[in-house]
Amino acid sequence: MKKKIFGLFIFVVLALFIAACSSESSGDADGKTDDAGKDNSEGGSDSKGEVEIFSWWTGAGEEDGLLALIELFEEKNPDIAIDNAAVSGGAGTNAKAVLATRMQGNDPPSTFQVHGGEELNKSWVAADKMEPLNDFYEENEWMDKFPEELIDLVSSDGNIYSIPVNIHRGNVFFYNIQVFEDNGIEVPTTMDEFFAAADKLQEAGTIPVALGDKESWTATQIFENVLLGKLGPDDYKKLFAGEIGFDDPRVAEAAEQFGKILDYVNEDHASRNWQDSAQLVANGEAAMLNMGDWAKGYFANDLDLETNVDFGYFAFPDTDGEFQVITDTFGLPKGVDNPDDVKEFLKVLASVEGQDAFNPLKGSIPARIDADPEKYDQYGKDTMEDFKNSRLVPSLAHGSAASEGFLTKANQAVNIFVTQRDVDNFIQALVSAAPEM
Ligand code: BGC
Repeated sequence: MKKKIFGLFIFVVLALFIAACSSESSGDADGKTDDAGKDNSEGGSDSKGEVEIFSWWTGAGEEDGLLALIELFEEKNPDIAIDNAAVSGGAGTNAKAVLATRMQGNDPPSTFQVHGGEELNKSWVAADKMEPLNDFYEENEWMDKFPEELIDLVSSDGNIYSIPVNIHRGNVFFYNIQVFEDNGIEVPTTMDEFFAAADKLQEAGTIPVALGDKESWTATQIFENVLLGKLGPDDYKKLFAGEIGFDDPRVAEAAEQFGKILDYVNEDHASRNWQDSAQLVANGEAAMLNMGDWAKGYFANDLDLETNVDFGYFAFPDTDGEFQVITDTFGLPKGVDNPDDVKEFLKVLASVEGQDAFNPLKGSIPARIDADPEKYDQYGKDTMEDFKNSRLVPSLAHGSAASEGFLTKANQAVNIFVTQRDVDNFIQALVSAAPEM
């Protein structure tokens, strides 16, 4: 008797369970939203036609390109919702930490911003967290639509793991044209010319170089460009491949020169972020700014300055003919519930139309080789040419040249160097961090 009652109980529970499931799926078929029975993980990873885009593009100079891409996606895919999950902080200062926690907790966003190179390969590919996209590239005939060097940066062991949306250049100085004219300054091409110009500006009471290293990557970026000038592209690459040591005398010379540049920056550099430092150049308080060309997007689209009228640009002295490559890419993490929806977003991001909507606002050039140059201003056109004709090197400050572990330590060492200016300590810190590369 007891057994019969227990059997009946089990039957009723099962019947209720099946009924609940079928009503849920009929709710889906009707297109009704139904949150019942879902777990309460935050990732929005349930398959409900939503794509969560994780990046650090928020606010001035960063967000407009992404919003244009999302708008294009929504026009083409009205049935798939977008969750714009951006975490503020230049160069991913905060976003990368949030991402790491989520990835470790198996709660990946549908897709996320990641630099091509070691940031992608040593972090997420090595941890087996990314889907290979070779077939996706083949199906969409993208293999010859992106430069080989970029495909290499997003590949590991013959598999491709993400899609580049842009190419930023890191070894650029932007300058205030009026300030240069007023002080009779010519565009410097060597470090000697640069320091001569900086002295002249300083004597005239103008801040020669704007810096905002509240987040220390902006200073690391200056240092990597000095390193590139000192070592040249081949040895610069060897340094990060571990074939040349950080105790090479040229690295110490680069540190000296980096220290010398720091003598010309604004006093309040430690309390400014990159946009705040760019404003100093925009309003003429400072003359020059070394910044990736997202600063071009900021000048032109946020501050309404005109390229080659209000601001000009030149390659970081001693690095003409070289191109510090920074590429923002997006891939497909393993374990995402709705990979087909995510792929629809990746298709828009990879398309000529998507890249030409995004990049003119972002200040970058398109990663695709068949984009329309007429959509870009003179800076964009010049940079497209430079990309084709330059030696390409991966940026340290923006994740391509070395692992995140090394970059974190390099940023700390730079931060200490900026205040202490102790070359020996700085070199020692880099030497100790090198095994992490
Ligand atoms: C990214 C750019 C971004 C910049 C400032 C870089 O690491 O590649 O897309 O604009 O950081 O946040």
